[in-house]
Amino acid sequence: MGKVLIMDHPLVKHKITLMRDERTDTKEFRILVREVAMLMGYEAMRDLPTELVSVKTPITETKQPMITHNKVALVPILRAGLGMVDGLLSLVPNAKVGHIGLARDEETHLPYEYYCKLPRNISDMTVVLPDPMLATGGSAIHAVDFIKQKGGRNIKFMCIIAAPEGLDALQKAHPDIDIFVGCLDEGLNENAYIIPGLGDAGDRIFGTL
Ligand code: PRP
Ligand code: URA
Repeated sequence: MGKVLIMDHPLVKHKITLMRDERTDTKEFRILVREVAMLMGYEAMRDLPTELVSVKTPITETKQPMITHNKVALVPILRAGLGMVDGLLSLVPNAKVGHIGLARDEETHLPYEYYCKLPRNISDMTVVLPDPMLATGGSAIHAVDFIKQKGGRNIKFMCIIAAPEGLDALQKAHPDIDIFVGCLDEGLNENAYIIPGLGDAGDRIFGTL
């Protein structure tokens, strides 16, 4: 059974409130996405494997833990997930980065895939899937299905804002994965946008409003 962690930290709450504000411009929004991703990444990376390496301090030789190289794959869900990559890379600079391109059909709200490139050997890696928004859950479920088909086993999904509907759907579809949520919102409107949410995350990150 995977775990679900809903962030409970004033820094994360404060930054998400700034992101929600419609007056927050693209430049500031991008900075906030990166910062929230980094703060959430601290929790998401908590169980990364470490190994003992030799290090010589000014006092003596010792063996101390370091993150095992090449064991993390970041696979942002395009477009909006891209905004979270830099913050996560600042924590795990050696991570491999794959991409999965999904967009929601505006009528049906169902995701369709338009691009995919993954690192090799993801079955041995912790695969972190960042996407700022978990609305109906369709995109996240599709992305996790795909990663599993390609052999991924240790999967963590990270979103900045989730609707309860999307979180339930993702947990039901993939009870084995870990899910990290910045803030759990009230629900969805008739267009499957999160309420109160922050609008269209991709448009706000890339200035395509
Ligand atoms: C947004 C968001 C998620 C998806 C969430 O992407 O970044 O990927 O919607 O909605 P769901 O949970 O109902 O599937 P969008 O399809 O707008 O594409 P974009 O990132 O290119 O803007
Ligand atoms: N995608 C977004 O970017 N925002 C929402 O509220 C729902 C889906």
